[in-house]
Amino acid sequence: MAEPYPKHSYPKLSAHDLTRTFGRGPGAVDALGPLDLSVAPGEFLCVVGPSGCGKSTLLRIAAGLLRPTTGTLEIRTAGPRPAAMIFQDYGIYDWKTVRANVRFGLDVQRVPRREANARADDWLARMGLADFAGAYPATLSGGMRQRVAIARALAVEPEILLMDEPFAALDAQLRVILQDELLDLTQATRTTTLFITHSLEEAIVLGDRVLVMSARPGRIIAERRPPFPRPRTGDIRATPEFTALKGELWDLLRREAVPA
Ligand SMILES: Nc1ncnc2c1ncn2[C@@H]1O[C@H](COP(=O)(O)OP(=O)(O)O)[C@@H](O)[C@H]1O
Ligand SMILES: [Mg+2]
Repeated sequence: MAEPYPKHSYPKLSAHDLTRTFGRGPGAVDALGPLDLSVAPGEFLCVVGPSGCGKSTLLRIAAGLLRPTTGTLEIRTAGPRPAAMIFQDYGIYDWKTVRANVRFGLDVQRVPRREANARADDWLARMGLADFAGAYPATLSGGMRQRVAIARALAVEPEILLMDEPFAALDAQLRVILQDELLDLTQATRTTTLFITHSLEEAIVLGDRVLVMSARPGRIIAERRPPFPRPRTGDIRATPEFTALKGELWDLLRREAVPA
């Protein structure tokens, strides 16, 4: 039988009939699904949904940290490069220097120290942190710590970047700055990305596609393609198309967040 896709365009990640239930018996919580989705090579897919709808559950399954209850989630990687995940709380190590934090994934991969340091320093420079390589995370602001976490994830040049509300804890201004930085970075590297957020603005700025999840157990209830060609910049926030799409997505979400 003919292959359904040319090889280079196989989805990097695909979920089929995926569900997750926590616990069993009368206290069981159906957290997710059934849900189908796929992320194409080079695609930036954003998933938005109300609080508690199963977004982190989905990402943890994608990261291999949690098993599905039923269904499958498959990651198709071409080489030994890993998927990388940035946790909601971005857990960087306070006892390691900034450079050692960024080098962490490279050390795990046993990249030789000299090369690992060079790659770490390159990413630190790109994130505007060149002067802080030797500093300890406790001395950095929240936004700088977040950039360390992003540099650490990108330094391993992951085939798939998995991000769970990476900017949620930051103030509004810094959020916009980091959204724009991530936009530049991912447009330059074409990294396949699954990005979870509850911010509609963030999803529209960053996403090739935006999926909207229902309230728990989270299913996909809508899909939109922000109508902005790439490379795009944060200036799209000021366009009428942006405002219209945000309004439309907000209506969908509001129906989920506030039970009828
Ligand atoms: N380890 C767990 N044990 C029990 N319930 C859980 C666990 N993790 C998540 N849940 C529940 O599953 C639902 C979805 O959680 P989560 O995926 O964290 O939602 P979101 O990230 O969209 O806010 C919530 O009701 C949450 O309480
Ligand atoms: Mg979450």
